[in-house]
Amino acid sequence: MIVEQNVPLQAHNSFGIVAKARMLVRVRGEADVQQLLADTEFGVIPKFVLGGGSNIVLTGDVKPLVLKIEIAGRRVLEDGPRAVLLEAGAGENWHDFVTWTLEQGHPGLENLALIPGTTGAAPVQNVGAYGVELQDRFESLDAIDLFTGKIFTLNAAQCAFGYRDSVFKHVAAKEGDFGLGGRALILRVRFRLPKPWKPVLGYLDLQRKMHETGIREPSARQIYDWVCAIRTAKLPDPRVIGNAGSFFKNPTVTPEQCQDIIAREPNIVHYPMPDGSVKLAAGWLIDACGWKGKSVGNAGVYEKQALVLVNRGGATGGEVVTLARAIQTSVYERFGIRLEPEPVVV
Ligand code: EPU
Repeated sequence: MIVEQNVPLQAHNSFGIVAKARMLVRVRGEADVQQLLADTEFGVIPKFVLGGGSNIVLTGDVKPLVLKIEIAGRRVLEDGPRAVLLEAGAGENWHDFVTWTLEQGHPGLENLALIPGTTGAAPVQNVGAYGVELQDRFESLDAIDLFTGKIFTLNAAQCAFGYRDSVFKHVAAKEGDFGLGGRALILRVRFRLPKPWKPVLGYLDLQRKMHETGIREPSARQIYDWVCAIRTAKLPDPRVIGNAGSFFKNPTVTPEQCQDIIAREPNIVHYPMPDGSVKLAAGWLIDACGWKGKSVGNAGVYEKQALVLVNRGGATGGEVVTLARAIQTSVYERFGIRLEPEPVVV
């Protein structure tokens, strides 16, 4: 076990914010974690699990011991008549994993192409795009308890998936409370891709692609290419412009609240949900408040998609947070809606 000191994190967070980890350990498997937990000095100190860094805002140097997840490996566990079961190490890059599954001839994850981050971080957020959420293809995961060193397996119900939410985003106040945040380190994730494959094409942007190309029955590879093209056109590439994808969740309101807003704002983009609530497009709300292209210091609102905050070069986490708060205030003042950030402020 090597504990590195003062490690630059700029390359390890998709916002590209300059910050350091006071101490960092690279985790390549559970043995690394168990060795660390057994250490009299490092076993007991606070820890911070870092995946691809695509969903964090660093507001300064990270004081807890950073566990950089580099657990590799991807394999087919079972190729049965009704589904294929696949497994990936938590450190595998998500998009590379999606690409690999298609190359192996296993469709099902194509709508989730090009989402930044690691496979281990994907269940934390329950990542989703173009009509598919991780929970729709999830089988189970293995994790290690950072308090006890015990390895355990969770199924989908135990992960308590919600919209950009899971048990891993909640911190239990005391033993027995709901939440595994800060406690569970995800080691491996397993996916179930049902057979026969059914394309998910309901999302408006994909309908548009079908219309433009005249392709009525696209292959999984075709959908993958469309999703990559759609994302590239409206989301900034974090390797070029630092960002953390959508900065806010799309808020849900009651149908009555929605009617009230529509009466004042007839153009508001909204989607009825199966549970009767109505989801509003946060990007539209922010855009309507005139934020597109605006900046606070070196942090800005992306020109092509108001839901994405970007690092225009040298932004600090403080600038990102100040910008986010200003946006929340103006959306609240105009629409009476509180926007909730997606990334974790560290
Ligand atoms: N809109 C505007 N102005 C803007 C941005 C959006 O008017 O500046 C309108 C669009 O015209 C559209 C609506 O808002 O009618 C929704 O926008 P879009 O279709 O781009 O999707 P989104 O709701 O902004 C969500 C996810 C994305 C995911 C896409 C595709 C959230 C918070 N975001 O974005 O996820 O890729 O749908 O499924 O749920 C992420 O979480 O990081 C992420 C990128």
